[in-house]
Amino acid sequence: MLCLRRVCLLTLRRCQARTLCSDLLLSQINSCTHEDEVFSLVARNKARLSEKHVGIAFNILWQLQKKRPFLLRTTEYVKNHSQFLTLCVLAENKVKDMEDEAIVDTLYSILRLNVEDHDSLAEALVTEAWKRLERLSLPALSKFTLCLYKQHRHFNPIIGQVAHIVDMKLDSIQDVRILSVLMVGISDVISQSFRDRLLHKAEQLLEEENEGHFNYAKRMLQFLQNIKLKYHPLLEKCNRIFLKSASRLDIHSISNIFGLYEQLGFDNAEFRLLANQLLSENIDDYYNPETFAKLFFALGPMAGSRVRERLLVTAAHMAEEFSSHQVLVILKTMKKMKCRNSHLLEKMASVLPKHLDSYHVLQLVKLTQYLTGLRCRNLELFSKLKILLLGYLKSSVIPADTAAIIRVLAMLPSFQVEEMITNKAAAVLPQCSLHHLNCIATALVKWNHHDQLHWQNSSELCAKLLQKLNDCGFERLQKTNSLNLLLEELTHVNGQWFEEVLNEETVAMCQRLIDQITWTNVLPLSFFLKKTNHRCPALFDRIASVTVENTDKIHPSEIYFILFLFSALNYDNEEFFKSCIQHLTSNLSYFEIYQLVLLGHVLAVAGYFPPILITTIFNVSFLSKLDAQLKVLPDTLKQRVCSRLMKLNRAVCLECPEFHIPWFHEQYCQRVFHNSMSRINPLRQHVHRMLTEILGGSQYSRISVLTPYYYEIDFECVLDENKKPLSYMAQNIHLDDVGGIHLRHDIKDEGRKALPPGAQRIALEFLDSRAFSKDYSRHLKGEPAVKKRHLEMLGYRVVQIPHFEWNSMVLSTKGEQLEYLRQQLYGIQ
Ligand SMILES: *[C@@H]1O[C@H](CO)[C@@H](O)[C@H](O)[C@H]1NC(C)=O
Ligand SMILES: *[C@@H]1O[C@H](CO)[C@@H](O)[C@H](O)[C@H]1NC(C)=O
Ligand SMILES: *[C@@H]1O[C@H](CO)[C@@H](O)[C@H](O)[C@H]1NC(C)=O
Ligand SMILES: *[C@@H]1O[C@H](CO)[C@@H](O)[C@H](O)[C@H]1NC(C)=O
Repeated sequence: MLCLRRVCLLTLRRCQARTLCSDLLLSQINSCTHEDEVFSLVARNKARLSEKHVGIAFNILWQLQKKRPFLLRTTEYVKNHSQFLTLCVLAENKVKDMEDEAIVDTLYSILRLNVEDHDSLAEALVTEAWKRLERLSLPALSKFTLCLYKQHRHFNPIIGQVAHIVDMKLDSIQDVRILSVLMVGISDVISQSFRDRLLHKAEQLLEEENEGHFNYAKRMLQFLQNIKLKYHPLLEKCNRIFLKSASRLDIHSISNIFGLYEQLGFDNAEFRLLANQLLSENIDDYYNPETFAKLFFALGPMAGSRVRERLLVTAAHMAEEFSSHQVLVILKTMKKMKCRNSHLLEKMASVLPKHLDSYHVLQLVKLTQYLTGLRCRNLELFSKLKILLLGYLKSSVIPADTAAIIRVLAMLPSFQVEEMITNKAAAVLPQCSLHHLNCIATALVKWNHHDQLHWQNSSELCAKLLQKLNDCGFERLQKTNSLNLLLEELTHVNGQWFEEVLNEETVAMCQRLIDQITWTNVLPLSFFLKKTNHRCPALFDRIASVTVENTDKIHPSEIYFILFLFSALNYDNEEFFKSCIQHLTSNLSYFEIYQLVLLGHVLAVAGYFPPILITTIFNVSFLSKLDAQLKVLPDTLKQRVCSRLMKLNRAVCLECPEFHIPWFHEQYCQRVFHNSMSRINPLRQHVHRMLTEILGGSQYSRISVLTPYYYEIDFECVLDENKKPLSYMAQNIHLDDVGGIHLRHDIKDEGRKALPPGAQRIALEFLDSRAFSKDYSRHLKGEPAVKKRHLEMLGYRVVQIPHFEWNSMVLSTKGEQLEYLRQQLYGIQ
């Protein structure tokens, strides 16, 4: 007790002593409420100013600015003030005497006041802080790192040293603010294992319940974007923090978060819903071009029709005022919105010429993609773009740029190819990655196809170039010894050239590298196989076993995609499916609501109906939540989810009546099928005539038929127990021939009951190449297999005729075709 009192007294006395001899000037500077007061103090006390005073003065100058709203800041005035210069000179002379914290604070303040990066005071402060790096406290170190980051010194050796220090002290960091700043600062120079330690630390320190962690969560997103890693646990935690911080979500943070989500390939329907609600409330408040561009970017793609219309109108009004960058943002968003508003498009095209010169080459490439994607028809603009792009192409030495320019040149309307372009292409080929080769090939194939090579013997040249391209592609592939690098190059590869020239070889190469398949690359490998539709058993089995061994490390939504590959290509592996299902059904909360529908469908195609998943989905409160979220999802995703829900509903009704789930998609199907009337193509007409001949009359078969549950089949006919065709007329089933489209809505009432005993309904289907895997096995894919299964449940005998059989040489004469069809109908049961 006594001890305690003495301590208290002592501290008290020391505090009083400090106040008494405290520096009057220091407190005067500290209490300034306007910049001019600071400057006048500086002017009057020049000779007396110590390094401490100088540091505080800079600090106060920034604090005063910080208090003002952004648009009312006067940093220009401050920096231009003669006493500011005095302060700078004093500081530079006293750098060595400053305390560690003061050095970093001063650096921070002057950078926030927008002093040039290479200002001599800034240089002196950086040098001094660098010397003392090892002994800086963690807060000072993180602030210093932030300064370096702001100065774009990402690859500077100092950053390497900072990273080293963070590595040593990581365990002692307990402040997520400090950690988040350090992580962003050193993101360019960290190893993978260090990266993983940082991620774990961040997961530990970031608190969901703490709204104050909003800004740190944003920084964590920035970190993930810097290292290009879609690390689910941290991303989802950040997302949950954002969801709980509605009050902090303004247009700037929302568009910032959306931008980072987009780059990371992450999305979250609940965040979309919240943002949509917050932004739609007062869309008229965003009157300045910068905030409006952000609003347009964030809200445009998910806005309902009324808000969307207002956004488009305002954007057109504001077109003149947008900066070059904002113009790009608007066009990019229009493309995402699939905007067909010609007025706005013309408006944007009309303001573009004044910005064109300020874009760098990759922005021009993007711009061209947006404009062609939006079907812009401003030929004058395109010809300006062409000149600029050709200029860049002439001087380009980077294969990636060269390839990108060539690819977009091919998108320009009525483009005349010049020899310079093919020469340039030929020159970079040997250094090109598969992705870039694919870009160049796409352009060449298009030009060749559209006959746009006009100079003498140009098509010959083009053929030679394509040959060289193929050789380079093969060579590149053969040299590969890393599956990861290969998959990285393949991420954006697609199209005819690749499919025809390199597909087989690439799959073979993946097989050769099969030992390199690990849980970290099963997802990109599955993407690749899904894209190419190659059903390679060795690879599939390996993916399955790696996935099963690592289910805890792979995110459920990624396991979903792997299952999607297996089910789409109809590769049954019961053990694999069962193991994944068991894992996923105990982790359903990791999925977004709409993802559960997709998962349900994928499993249904493969013939699995986990009860917990089915009852979760077919639940009124689930479905109404889904309805709300669908409104803010991107259109293509929305349509995909709706159609999968319908298919899942159908599958459950047909295959699992024990769930007692009603079929509630009748109206949806009517709408969809009403909007997409199937055409009667020449093949169908041709076959219909043959069926008429075989069965003995046109009344014995029907073309383009909708079954119950809305499967569309090419032909239907009914044979009685003696294999004699039954006439639709006789059965009084009305034949709706107008427009060549037959709709029969309810077979239950008309057809099925009416069938005499022993009679059989036959569904005849022609399957094109999309129904089969692309490898030599030409295995029937998942969807047509399910269709067959379901039609059989509906009482059909299903005859599926693959295109490769029908088109084979044997069936080239009409007689052979007739015989083949007859056999299919009567012969094989
Ligand atoms: C900076 O100061 C100079 C002369 O002191 C003056 O001419 C100039 O307009 C000032 N600039 C700003 C942005 O205040
Ligand atoms: C194109 O034709 C000219 C003569 O017409 C010939 O000299 C030249 O070698 C040809 N170029 C190529 C690449 O075939
Ligand atoms: C999923 O469920 C299992 C238990 O079945 C559990 O061990 C695991 O941690 C859960 N979460 C994830 C992401 O795998
Ligand atoms: C539907 O889901 C809600 C919320 O998950 C749950 O409370 C309810 O019991 C479910 N209803 C049925 C019929 O399963």
